[in-house]
Amino acid sequence: MSKAIGGFSKLNKQQKIRWLAENFTGQPDALEQDFAQWQHPDAQMQKVIDGFTENAVSNFTLPYSIAPNFLINGKLYAVPMVIEESSVVAAASSAAKFWLERGGFHAEIVGAEKLGQVHFRWAGAPEKLQTLFPEIRARLMSECDDITVNMRNRGGGILDIALLDYTHIEPYYFQLRASFDTCNSMGANFINSVLERFADSLEQFFTEYPGLSDAERDVDVIMSILSNYTPGCLVRAWVETPVASFDDLARIQGMDSAALAERFATAVRIARIDPYRATTHNKGIFNGIDAVVLATGNDFRAVEACGHTYACRDGHYRSLSTCTVENGIFRFELEIPLALGTVGGLTALHPLARHSLDILGQPSSSDLMCIIASVGLAQNFAAVRSLITTGIQQGHMKMHLTNILNHLGATDEESAAAQYFFQNQTVSFSAVRAFLENRRLASEGAAAVPRPV
Ligand code: MEV
Repeated sequence: MSKAIGGFSKLNKQQKIRWLAENFTGQPDALEQDFAQWQHPDAQMQKVIDGFTENAVSNFTLPYSIAPNFLINGKLYAVPMVIEESSVVAAASSAAKFWLERGGFHAEIVGAEKLGQVHFRWAGAPEKLQTLFPEIRARLMSECDDITVNMRNRGGGILDIALLDYTHIEPYYFQLRASFDTCNSMGANFINSVLERFADSLEQFFTEYPGLSDAERDVDVIMSILSNYTPGCLVRAWVETPVASFDDLARIQGMDSAALAERFATAVRIARIDPYRATTHNKGIFNGIDAVVLATGNDFRAVEACGHTYACRDGHYRSLSTCTVENGIFRFELEIPLALGTVGGLTALHPLARHSLDILGQPSSSDLMCIIASVGLAQNFAAVRSLITTGIQQGHMKMHLTNILNHLGATDEESAAAQYFFQNQTVSFSAVRAFLENRRLASEGAAAVPRPV
């Protein structure tokens, strides 16, 4: 416990780093130097970044990449992606190119409704609450006018409030479930502010309403918070092509295109049957989705949590994508709830998130839903295509080769030679190390041979 500390958040950044370095690392100076090195050179910008969280001591860098050639609803996009996994952007780009030549991605918004809840206990008769509810509802709506006015001016606001009775499961437990249109913002702060006002108004209603018993006056609001499960904020993306357009791909695999398309559909059906496969399959979808969500300054935890709940909406965890091969047409589709914003939050504060939105042509939140769902589908397509043909390791390890070479301190010349050598060889850490050692030994040997004068 000697390493426990009170008031850590009150220390300035240097003091925090020093304390950390002295108490938790064997190389305090190295930690201080490295952390300092990752600070943004512009002090004002660093202040903005530090402002995102409590106790920031450094910045954590991830690559910001571009997957070009995404044709979505007839418009071409170069999509920014922030992700560390080496093969993801290459796979997305390759799938984007493949579908560019086949009509591109299609996407449509199914709904844009967000949700929030007020969970409360009330000891009166449920029927009485149902009777009072129209009055309660009207009061809740009007008493948050000041919070909703701007959103209403933009065309959004509260859509509805429903009263749900759970007293048969949990004594005295009721819920207000409110739906919202938050326009181009993700809307978390807006929704939570409205819900907290609902809670106050609800308590006030029961305090003031005439003729209630003492028990009926006693409403206990347990919590008020948005729900990250937004099945009504849904987008559908799909690709479609005659099976014959898989000819080239199929030929390389020594198959015919119909067999390849059917093999693909089978792989997707397996991910709809088996939750173990479905989890990995959906992880592949989120490889693409999270990367764009992050690059645009959106909340990837909210998007993931919601997507996985949606994946088991019928009580069984399944693939988020579906695939059919009918009448010679291959169709691959992804339906996923995505609660996103293109205004407010980090989208405005993070300089690279601002650039991402700019690169994407200042999309509305609906446009961004279509873009991100298409990238998720592309990523899924690339992964399943590899899995049912060459296997995933070939492409993955090719991309990972660069990481291994960097880790082993390869020079540019050694890296170029390794990239050439491993074109037709299996990449592994030990194989790359052996390649470099042999090469270095050979060049030392060559250097030791006396040159003729
Ligand atoms: C790896 O990050 C993602 C995959 O495992 C997805 C999949 O199996 O579909 C390749």
